Amino acid sequence: MKILVTGASGQVGRDLVDVLDGVVPAGGSAEFQKNLSGFEFQVLGVSHHDLDVTDEEHVENALQRLKPDVVINLSAYTAVDLAESQPEAAELVNAAAVGILSKACAAYGSRLLTVSTDYVFDGNKGDSYLETDQPNPQSAYGRSKWHGEQLCSASDTIVRTSWVMGVRGKTVGKVIADRAKTGERVRFVDDQMGSVTCASDLAVALARLAVDSPGGIWHVANSGSATWFDVADWIGELYGREDDFATAISTADLSPQPAAPRPTRSDLNTSKFAASYFSLPDWREGLLRFVEGLRR
Ligand SMILES: NC(=O)c1ccc[n+]([C@@H]2O[C@H](COP(=O)([O-])OP(=O)(O)OC[C@H]3O[C@@H](n4cnc5c(N)ncnc54)[C@H](OP(=O)(O)O)[C@@H]3O)[C@@H](O)[C@H]2O)c1
Repeated sequence: MKILVTGASGQVGRDLVDVLDGVVPAGGSAEFQKNLSGFEFQVLGVSHHDLDVTDEEHVENALQRLKPDVVINLSAYTAVDLAESQPEAAELVNAAAVGILSKACAAYGSRLLTVSTDYVFDGNKGDSYLETDQPNPQSAYGRSKWHGEQLCSASDTIVRTSWVMGVRGKTVGKVIADRAKTGERVRFVDDQMGSVTCASDLAVALARLAVDSPGGIWHVANSGSATWFDVADWIGELYGREDDFATAISTADLSPQPAAPRPTRSDLNTSKFAASYFSLPDWREGLLRFVEGLRR
């Protein structure tokens, strides 16, 4: 199976290219990657420099020439707070380009798998979100991703994920790990709940979904829910820090306040993916591997 990965030099892209090549990325699990046993992939990873997904002609030429079975789109405008002042830039990559990819895939016989976010939800449900729940994004980034979903066709596969942590990404997890190592303390909110997702585990799930390309929406994240405080506390524990490493604060205490509002509770219900394929490991186990990967 020939897979074209766009945004391949991003956080998830790097892990996905490794996984498709049969390599276990730093922070990955050889055991979990056995879920791909028996599948063979030919991977073509393209960075922003190689293929700008907002350039319709360039995208069409690439698909016509390369003829991938599946395009996994990981290109995105991911600066959540900056998007509040640059909504058009976010819309261009997260919405218009997804429409371009969807149309080009339909025209040249490829299937599209594109990645979206828990930020399409407003966080007011009071329970984890199902694929069938109605989006109501509260930020420019969330709106742009929701608009991208709406530009997909029924045969395209949309994977919503959240709070992604990859050893090679610029993540909150790395900031916490650095503070834990240098003896500093951290303050994190305990009134925002979500689903932590290890980039390497997500990559395995994306590869498996690409094989079937079932179409529709799929929620994929590590098992279990957490607050940002829980994440900081656990990473501190993994670095052997005492109980006072992380202090719980509320969102109202954040100073300055982030430009983009975050959902209060946007953990994803992943039972559809688990029932059809497999569960992702618990988020604590994922972060244990993440920390081991950082140490290496
Ligand atoms: N990170 C999270 O916590 C999180 C949570 C939920 C969902 N997601 C979604 O997961 C997916 C992967 O995210 P990630 O964490 O891997 O993000 P990332 O590290 O920011 O990677 C995104 C990649 O897209 C590339 N890109 C930007 N504009 C492009 C364009 N016009 N054409 C082609 N490539 C372009 C970027 O390249 P340059 O840097 O060179 O511009 C970058 O390599 C995205 O769809 C994101 O929205 C992420």
